[in-house]
Amino acid sequence: MAGGLKFLYYNQNQKPPATRTLSSRTEQPVEEFKKRFRRSGSVGLPFFPEEDLRSLRGLQSQQTIDETDEDGVKTISVIVRTINVNNAFRRILGAIPENAKIKHVESRDPKSKAKNEIEVFLELEVEEETIPIVEKISNAGFTAIELNRTYTPKGALEVSDPGSADALSGSVWFPKSIYDLDICCRRVIMYGAGLDADHPGFKDEEYRKRRMMFADIALNYKQGEPIPRVQYTEKETATWGVIYRKLRELHQKHACAEYLENFELLEQHCGYSDNNVPQLEDISNFLKMKTGFRLRPVAGYLSARDFLAGLAFRVFNCTQYVRHHADPFYTPEPDTVHELMGHMALFADPDFAQFSQEIGLASLGTSDEDLSKLATLYFFSIEFGMCCVGNDQKTNKPKYKIYGAGLLSSAGELQHAVGGKAEIVRFDPDRVVQQECLITTFQASYFYTKNFDEAQQKLRTFTNSMNRPFVVRYNPYTETVEVLNNKRSIMLAVNSLRSDINLLSSALHQIL
Ligand SMILES: [Fe+2]
Repeated sequence: MAGGLKFLYYNQNQKPPATRTLSSRTEQPVEEFKKRFRRSGSVGLPFFPEEDLRSLRGLQSQQTIDETDEDGVKTISVIVRTINVNNAFRRILGAIPENAKIKHVESRDPKSKAKNEIEVFLELEVEEETIPIVEKISNAGFTAIELNRTYTPKGALEVSDPGSADALSGSVWFPKSIYDLDICCRRVIMYGAGLDADHPGFKDEEYRKRRMMFADIALNYKQGEPIPRVQYTEKETATWGVIYRKLRELHQKHACAEYLENFELLEQHCGYSDNNVPQLEDISNFLKMKTGFRLRPVAGYLSARDFLAGLAFRVFNCTQYVRHHADPFYTPEPDTVHELMGHMALFADPDFAQFSQEIGLASLGTSDEDLSKLATLYFFSIEFGMCCVGNDQKTNKPKYKIYGAGLLSSAGELQHAVGGKAEIVRFDPDRVVQQECLITTFQASYFYTKNFDEAQQKLRTFTNSMNRPFVVRYNPYTETVEVLNNKRSIMLAVNSLRSDINLLSSALHQIL
């Protein structure tokens, strides 16, 4: 049993203690938080909103931590019910198998409100589970229901945290070299291997094992290494194929020209087809040649700060697993179908790549408040953005094309967005940052620009007004971010710019 065992008792009719609440939503805040957040993935949110992250960190700091805990373990949440007689609570604790450490336990009145029953919530940590924990507890004569299980793969916590302060800029720490992304991208908040009870793959042991394998690949990945190739199963390929065919039909009519053009290149060079799930390594190599963007596998959700930091280096954190085959058109979190069908084609477009990188650069070392605004701008452009390509000749109404990956990878929301009833307004960053990112339903509004260049110009104006006391510049030769806060660094940047201007001037003279 864990040394830090903590008992919390409260009556269901009373308010839970203040330290156990997330806003005012729930009885079991961490579990409810996970469920709520997982739903957000269905609309393409690839990171934890900072405000939610702060709430979760607050909760985690209040939970009892056993310092002897090791990695590579399952954490299982179970509800146990029984008749409340003869020291029932003590008997329930006695039924917990020896190979399980108690991380958390609460007793409470049952939801059924039966006065003679007792309900106990257990969070158990298990390394090896030959017989399911729930089965063992049930065999001891109790009603036991598994609520959730999370797998923490080995290596997950082997990341050295550089600390919160940045020596060079005085801001919060941010990566300076592309290799620092090994720190950011392994600070995973919620692992893809942990499936909640309402996840389509929750009861599928084979699928769970598969997800663990993908999490291991990502956690062991180091910047610059080739991304391990995956032999996708027949079920995974079939799931991919069903979505591929449906989306390609919709894309022909509704996707922007840049997307369609680059998608054809992905089909030619990266193995895109309805009977093959492309390999991240092939796509990464292709993007690197086109725009310098590259991929790295990610094990789960990152914070918005860590996710956007990758974009500053033209690195996209990309999931590699395929959603569960039970429902090809539903996924409770971003998966490789979303990434490959939604994002990849546009990272091959130079203007879009530049726009994406500028959001990333603006995020480095910025305040939490400004970071939240940038995350919202990311959401309503890269995930849900649209272009206006003139007026329809028949109706004389504006004609919109889609470039947002959340729409391009979701048949349902794509059709909703172009169906004529959705509100589509001009992309104005001051207006966009006021918009709520909806995480359980279709968006209330979508935003458009004429093209990526317009989005980029508006983003630049907006970021210039942000309150960051230093300027950063990406150096593609050294793959580092330079902080321009002294005479020498600024002079080096000016010299590089002078050289580029000379080149452009010569080129211009030759064609005039
Ligand atoms: Fe996405």
